[in-house]
Amino acid sequence: KEDLIIAIDGFSSTGKSSMSKIIAKNLNYTHIDSGAMYRAVTLYAFQHQYIVDKKIDVDGLVEHINDIKIEFVQDPTSQKNITYLNGENVEQEIRTMKISKMVSPISEIPAVRDYCVALQQKMGENGRIVMDGRDIGTTVFPDADIKIFVTASPEIRAKRRFLEYQQQGKDISMDEVLKNVKERDYIDSHREYSPLRKADDAIEVDNSELNLEETVNKVMEIILSRK
Ligand code: C5P
Repeated sequence: KEDLIIAIDGFSSTGKSSMSKIIAKNLNYTHIDSGAMYRAVTLYAFQHQYIVDKKIDVDGLVEHINDIKIEFVQDPTSQKNITYLNGENVEQEIRTMKISKMVSPISEIPAVRDYCVALQQKMGENGRIVMDGRDIGTTVFPDADIKIFVTASPEIRAKRRFLEYQQQGKDISMDEVLKNVKERDYIDSHREYSPLRKADDAIEVDNSELNLEETVNKVMEIILSRK
């Protein structure tokens, strides 16, 4: 089979996006980071005062949900996908701790999910995609050709994220990162609407003891054996 849909789900900071990007490149497919959409919606909510002092004006945001335009544009040099929110490059801004702290409560709102899921389904309708997220194999593409569920211990995931922040010169403590990872795990897997869970037919990959390259090799083996 040629035009596969590959769904890569799992907890935050498991390296899903990094591995999905490499796997898509290997297969000459498109990579879609679905988390970037929820992050862009969260940024929009901040920009328009639908989040003030950690309080969310759900009705206000939902009323204007269709004013949000999210696009991914590939950077020709780095081949990285750049996220655009209403025409503005927000790739850096959506990765900040400020957004990470509010993205899970925003992602619980059913109208936000419906909006993002419809966009994801549209972007993936022709196959040849690797999409990473929380509910790709369960809700967005329940018939995906290959489903991977990535896990690793919270401490290891927090450490990876912490080192990433350090490299970027961001002064965020390990405690704060671990707390955010655990909080997002909890909210993402306990929300009522489309929670994070492993699809019955997903293959679980625990990469606590694997680096990025080893994880990619393992997932590529699974993909090639089923292609
Ligand atoms: O993948 P990333 O960690 O950037 O996702 C940020 C947040 O977006 C997650 O913690 C989750 O709350 C939400 N999300 C989601 N469903 C997806 C992808 C992300 O709810 N498919």
